[in-house]
Amino acid sequence: MSKTMTEPKAKHIYWHEGEIKRADRERLHNHKAVCLWFTGLSGSGKSTIARKVEELLYERGVHCYVLDGDNVRHGLNRDLGFSPEDRTENIRRIGEVAKLFVDAGLIVMTAFISPYRADRDQVRQLMNPGDFCEIYVACDLEVCEQRDPKGLYKKARAGEIKEFTGISAPYEEPVNPELVIDTSRVTDVETNARKVIAFLEEKGYLSDDREPLEAGGNHRVQRKGEQP
Ligand code: ADX
Repeated sequence: MSKTMTEPKAKHIYWHEGEIKRADRERLHNHKAVCLWFTGLSGSGKSTIARKVEELLYERGVHCYVLDGDNVRHGLNRDLGFSPEDRTENIRRIGEVAKLFVDAGLIVMTAFISPYRADRDQVRQLMNPGDFCEIYVACDLEVCEQRDPKGLYKKARAGEIKEFTGISAPYEEPVNPELVIDTSRVTDVETNARKVIAFLEEKGYLSDDREPLEAGGNHRVQRKGEQP
């Protein structure tokens, strides 16, 4: 059976809805929940930027979390390698996890190469409109290769790592991402992270500290007891 099956294997399972809704959690947190999906080559800066955004958000009292490619592959996805099928399954699982985080009222940032457009689009489809923002961390392959923070490009060039993205496996650039951060052009991490914060403010995911949340959001948060 395909690992990427769309139908659950189990029968007789039912969806249970709790009394506390996402909107309640968003109101408690005083910000919207959203998934910021960073995509880009290895060494482009996805994790570094996401971690800096996490710091900046934390300082503002925002509930946020980073799901990072290398880390998740130590646990949840330890059974997956880098074949196209395994990468698809990697992204599918992370998409599902990220969706749960959004339902929990958090700003979740995912930092995975996620090289296939179809896989990223699948995650976009999984979420409500506005809940998934694709952030393309653009960086020339030559620059990533020069940085080579983990020495993996060198190994890939030497043929010691097979199916390495950019060298012997494809990377499909996003067609219409919500945000592009070009780290070959601007290398300062904080400057790049602040672009993400500015994006969140501009789109109304973060409330201005002086304004109530409802003022600027792109989905209105329902008050408890209020009709939708
Ligand atoms: S993805 O393609 O399935 O999205 P993911 O982001 O989880 O990849 O993992 C990428 C990280 O795994 C890279 O940053 C790198 O450190 C490491 N890695 C090890 N082998 C490979 C490979 N063949 N291709 C790409 N990255 C690899």
